[in-house]
Amino acid sequence: MLWTDKYRPKSFDDVVGNVKQKAIIKKWVEKWKNGEPQPPLLLIGPAGTGKTTIAHIIADEFSEYIELNASDKRSHDLLMTTIGESANTYSLFGNNRKLIIMDEVDGIHGTNDRGGTKALNKIIKESKQPIVMMANDFYSNKLTTIKKNAQVIKMDKIKSPSINKFLRDVVLKNEGIEVDKDVLMKLSKRSSGDLRSAVNTLQALVENGGELTEEALDSTSQKDNTSTIFDTVTRVLKSKNPEHVKCSLFENNEDPTLVMEYIAENIPREYESNREVQKAYEMNSQADLYFGRTRSSQYYGYWKYASDFMGVGVSTAKRDTYRKYSKVISPMAFSLMGRTRGKRALRDEIASKMEEKM
Ligand SMILES: Nc1ncnc2c1ncn2[C@@H]1O[C@H](COP(=O)(O)OP(=O)(O)OP(=O)(O)O)[C@@H](O)[C@H]1O
Ligand SMILES: [Mg+2]
Repeated sequence: MLWTDKYRPKSFDDVVGNVKQKAIIKKWVEKWKNGEPQPPLLLIGPAGTGKTTIAHIIADEFSEYIELNASDKRSHDLLMTTIGESANTYSLFGNNRKLIIMDEVDGIHGTNDRGGTKALNKIIKESKQPIVMMANDFYSNKLTTIKKNAQVIKMDKIKSPSINKFLRDVVLKNEGIEVDKDVLMKLSKRSSGDLRSAVNTLQALVENGGELTEEALDSTSQKDNTSTIFDTVTRVLKSKNPEHVKCSLFENNEDPTLVMEYIAENIPREYESNREVQKAYEMNSQADLYFGRTRSSQYYGYWKYASDFMGVGVSTAKRDTYRKYSKVISPMAFSLMGRTRGKRALRDEIASKMEEKM
């Protein structure tokens, strides 16, 4: 049995991390139960942090629930018939509410199939039933309207000490397994806030008498959905597909201004025509501008523009993709980490401001 199923939290208290967020969610549930309708909940956050788990814990609080994967039900008609009715009619049993759960609402094909998002937005506005939605990509344009009509809860990554504690005090304790505590801490840190991946890695390594050694841990491949900075730079310079470029930037956990420095360094190594190089640098300097604006205005919405300029902007500056191998190198002219320390501090500050506002 998968440990992620075995140790899936059954109550809010069992859910690790996101303490403030959980409190808001609990209040939302209480209000519904007291007969006060609430706007739909939209849980947005990285993979493996407990969004789906929380939705099911919420479901236990209601008499009934239905679950839909928004990306599977693209068409307007399907969405309407499946949830349209239940969204604005009360369930048969008096005041009992039927919870509607919609996972991956950022997966709806909004641009190719406007119907999907449009129908969803209509339902969100008109629904008399509680709705919980989940998404990964905070900046997805598919969420723009949904966000306006929902109570947005931004879920954080799980901090590594909390991951460590969960693995030790819940999983390993129950399994009766002892491991090297330093290696366990290393594993917790390496899962970069993704509790599911931490539990999976641990199970893969220690189930059936395996020993948790540093070598064993190192041999497990890097978490596959986290692009390294080199992957991202390669993607930006090699791809012309905006979705792929955006995705790679979103999944990258590095300081975005550092990624920008890397892109700048590597533009002339990949692009050959002067016009392309010029345009790419224009895009990159726009990104720098928006990072600056973020800093001076403290308006984090600018962050997205910076990301789009240095990503999609730079990637579409080339006419065609070059069929050649260029090694991505790190910016050498200065000591990077020293230079970006201030920016990284800024990023953390903005992140905590965002958290307060949400
Ligand atoms: N906060 C948490 N506390 C305890 N266990 C967790 C937590 N987050 C994730 N897990 C573990 O990871 C598994 C997967 O979590 P879940 O499906 O809720 O993640 P998610 O946020 O919905 O991820 P995704 O974005 O990929 O859908 C759970 O079954 C549980 O075992
Ligand atoms: Mg999920």
